[in-house]
Amino acid sequence: VPMAQATLQVFRGDREDGKAVEYQVPLVPGMVVLDALHSVQAHQAPDLAIRWNCKAGKCGSCSAEVNGRPRLMCKTRIDSLPLDQPIIIFPMKAFPVIKDLVTDVSWNFKVNRKITPFQPRPGVEWKMYQRDVDRVQEFRKCIECFLCQNVCHVLREHHKQEEFGGPRFFVRTASLEMHPLDGVSRARMLKEELGLGLCNITKCCTEVCPEDIHITDNAIIPLKERVVDEYYDPLLMLIRKIRSA
Ligand code: SF4
Ligand code: F3S
Ligand code: FES
Repeated sequence: VPMAQATLQVFRGDREDGKAVEYQVPLVPGMVVLDALHSVQAHQAPDLAIRWNCKAGKCGSCSAEVNGRPRLMCKTRIDSLPLDQPIIIFPMKAFPVIKDLVTDVSWNFKVNRKITPFQPRPGVEWKMYQRDVDRVQEFRKCIECFLCQNVCHVLREHHKQEEFGGPRFFVRTASLEMHPLDGVSRARMLKEELGLGLCNITKCCTEVCPEDIHITDNAIIPLKERVVDEYYDPLLMLIRKIRSA
């Protein structure tokens, strides 16, 4: 009986030049895409470049595009894919390729530095309620896989990396803005530096998030409301100022 095999088509190359190369991999029960690539590395192409660390969906390193969908390769089971056709594995499209499946995601860390850090309100005593914890906890589940950044059309198709921070950083900003002890407003930063207005709520980011963070509904929309309040509703702004004084 011939051993069951999967056919992979894996991008090999760099940002100048590259092409899909085909490999046959013996199927093992429970195998994920990352296992299949490790088999290729072990037996056929020791120079295949992949970034990974945990193989447990927690480090956010193994992001790639599997059959055109942004996925964590360690969480994508081979038997969830149609095996009568090749499995196509490409690097994330929104970031420059370094080699094969490894992309340069350092732009994200530059965006991160634009975010005003947590600043506690002085002299406030606060009882932390479970709902305060839950609200922020959702955002803190982010593993920085950058799949949401990769799929957002503002970055992927329109290349607005200069003006737009992307969904991952709206999530981070929301975790700070919704912290009950934080005392700064990030409305100007969101509008001018992270370009929140460029997001037109397509929700593609939310669909691909492996941590099931409700990026659009729970982070982006409340942040948009804050920006609108501060920029277009001077009365609301005044009331808030008086309240927090
Ligand atoms: Fe990944 Fe979700 Fe974090 Fe985006 S918000 S980087 S998709 S875990
Ligand atoms: Fe992009 Fe998500 Fe907004 S995909 S346009 S950040 S809702
Ligand atoms: Fe850590 Fe996939 S290897 S998330």
